[in-house]
Amino acid sequence: MSLFDRIPNNVNLSEDPRLQRALEKWLPDYLDWWRQMGPDGFLENDVYLRTAVSVEPSGWAHFDYVKMPDYRWGIFLTPPEPEAKIGFGDNYGKPAYLEVPGEFRNALRRLIVTQADTEPASVEQQRRLGHTCPSLYDLRNLFQVNVEEGRHLWAMVYLLHKYFGRDGREEAEELLQRRSGNPDKPRILQAFNEPCGDWLDYFCFTMFTDRDGKYQLSALAESGFEPLRRTCRFMLTEEAHHMFIGETGIERVIKRTAQLMKESKNGDARELGAIPLDIIQKYINYWYAYSLDLFGGEISSNSADFFAAGLKGRYREQELHRDHIAIGGVVNIAVVEGNQIRNREAPTRNALNEVLRGEYTKDNERALARWNKILVEEGLTERLYLPSMRFYRRVGEYAGHYFDIHGSLISQAEFEVRAPAWLPTSQDREEVGALMTPGAERGKIANWIAPPKTGINRKPFDFEFVRL
Ligand SMILES: [Fe+2]
Ligand SMILES: [Fe+2]
Repeated sequence: MSLFDRIPNNVNLSEDPRLQRALEKWLPDYLDWWRQMGPDGFLENDVYLRTAVSVEPSGWAHFDYVKMPDYRWGIFLTPPEPEAKIGFGDNYGKPAYLEVPGEFRNALRRLIVTQADTEPASVEQQRRLGHTCPSLYDLRNLFQVNVEEGRHLWAMVYLLHKYFGRDGREEAEELLQRRSGNPDKPRILQAFNEPCGDWLDYFCFTMFTDRDGKYQLSALAESGFEPLRRTCRFMLTEEAHHMFIGETGIERVIKRTAQLMKESKNGDARELGAIPLDIIQKYINYWYAYSLDLFGGEISSNSADFFAAGLKGRYREQELHRDHIAIGGVVNIAVVEGNQIRNREAPTRNALNEVLRGEYTKDNERALARWNKILVEEGLTERLYLPSMRFYRRVGEYAGHYFDIHGSLISQAEFEVRAPAWLPTSQDREEVGALMTPGAERGKIANWIAPPKTGINRKPFDFEFVRL
């Protein structure tokens, strides 16, 4: 069996010798990277994973036991759309780009590389979590996300190899050389250099950071560069499961905490081994803020250029917007001027990062409402919330300024005094870390989290999701 029979694909890989040669060189490096930086341990265990073997509804979620190094990383694009058009920007209505347009080559490569870099980065961030998983169900979900992020890297590397020639091949190599959190060769975006030390981090990451991915991919799924559009559309089908893991993971933590709060005599669930709500809130604040940064500056000439060129659109551009040129109009943006928050009008195209961030925030608010429903159902008066979009930002208009959790400007000195009430302290992290103990067993679950409502693929929770 040739190497390429092992790579499920719908891009006629077997008929493209040039692409085969490029991937043939890259594949061993990828496997080295996976062994070095992928999940620590568990390489010999059978894991109940889904594999995409085609893009048809019957084929993209094929479940079976697989050892992770044998996972079949596939290359899939949604089917070609005959007569696809550019859906927005200066070339609105013209035929979609089937090849890379010369004048946008650098911009397009940068968009693809930035997205691609997040995929291996997240695998690196999560690599040690298997040892402290709360249940086999969660362990399997972790590994599912890991192998799919690996596949997303494949999907992006396919585009680099297929459409960008030599510099594409160089970029593909560099994607395997950068390392999350390494000061000498960090990953491109900062949220992807932040450590994911415990499972609350992991659930927040899949909730907030993977959700940024959903919005970035949605904007790229509108792209006038047809291969990118089709690649991202298929990735989005997998991404939904990652966010499900995050959203329901946090929900299960909240539920367990609420139950233990009621059980404890003084309402303090700590002594019963729960993660206190105030620590959950701080983790939310931290990961939400870092994930907001991923959208880029509030007022951005890049966003305007990408839109004008037809490379990166808006969230659900066709369904939610009527004017796809977006040349007139302004968006109001709060900026800091002379130690005050003032309104600035930005031309629509320059404000598209902020518009996308707004969609993202709405989506998160929906999840917060769902989590608070759990607290209501359990008869508690406490509520969780999202901090202001200005809080603890490192990128854009608010970077370099200090805000309280509600978004009011404060001094750096005040911020430093109050930060331990808003962001996880090292003591909080130790406390959470101490609850994360090894030794998951079939059908059992750690004390600090509630079991899921059902297993995966209609299997019960006590299914042997990983054979240890
Ligand atoms: Fe991904
Ligand atoms: Fe993801």
